[in-house]
Amino acid sequence: MLLHVPDILSREQVAAIRQRLDDTAWADGRETVGSLGAQVKRNLQLPDQSPLKRELGETILAALARSPLFFNAALPLKILPPRFNCYVAGGEYGFHVDGAVMAFVRGEQMRSDVSCTLFLSDPEEYEGGELIIHDTYGEHEVNLAAGDAIVYPSTSLHRVTPVTRGARVAAFFWVQSMVRDESQRRLLFELDASIERLRASAADEAAILQLSGVYHNLLRRWAQT
Ligand code: NI
Repeated sequence: MLLHVPDILSREQVAAIRQRLDDTAWADGRETVGSLGAQVKRNLQLPDQSPLKRELGETILAALARSPLFFNAALPLKILPPRFNCYVAGGEYGFHVDGAVMAFVRGEQMRSDVSCTLFLSDPEEYEGGELIIHDTYGEHEVNLAAGDAIVYPSTSLHRVTPVTRGARVAAFFWVQSMVRDESQRRLLFELDASIERLRASAADEAAILQLSGVYHNLLRRWAQT
C-alpha cells in the first residue's frame, strides 16, 4: 500500500527545519549503504552521528506521534530515527530495495517493513527528483508538498530520478510494524477507515461496536510486539 500522509509538519515547522539544514555541512550519502547501494546512490546526507540529525529527527518523531493516519497505516513498533538527504546537481538514487535490517545508532536492530519519505522541499523548488516506486500495480511517481509524507512497503523497488535544478531536501526513515505482513496491514487500515466513516455518519452504534471488536481481535491475532 502506497499512502500519502499530508501535513505531518506545518509550514512553520518545515521552514524552521529547512533553515537549520541550509546552514549545515552535508556528507556523502554513500556513508549509510552497502557496496551495491553505493554504486547507484549519489546524494548528500546528514552524518549519522550528527547532533542536528538527532534534534530534527526528534521533531519529526513527535509530529508522527500526532498523526492517526500514519499510525493506522504503519502500525509502528519501532521507528528508526529519521535521516536527512539532499539531492542537487544531477544527484540521484538508482533502483534499489532498502536493507531488510537497520541498526539504531545505539546498536539495537530492527526490521524494515515500511519505508517513509517526508518531503522538506516543495515541488516548485526543484526539477526531477521524483520518487519512483515500483509495486505489483506498476510504477508510481511521487512528488509531494513539503511537510507531506509517502508511506510504502520496504519490499518495493524504488529510485529517485536526477535532480536537474534546485535542491530536493527530505527526511526518510523506516518502521518495523507490529503487523509484519503487508496484506494484513492493509486490511486493518481499510477496516479502520471504514469504521471511522461509519462513526462520522452516525450509523448503528451496536454494529460499529461489533466492527471495532473485529478490528481489535484481528490486530490481537496478527500483532507481534
Ligand atoms: Ni530507498
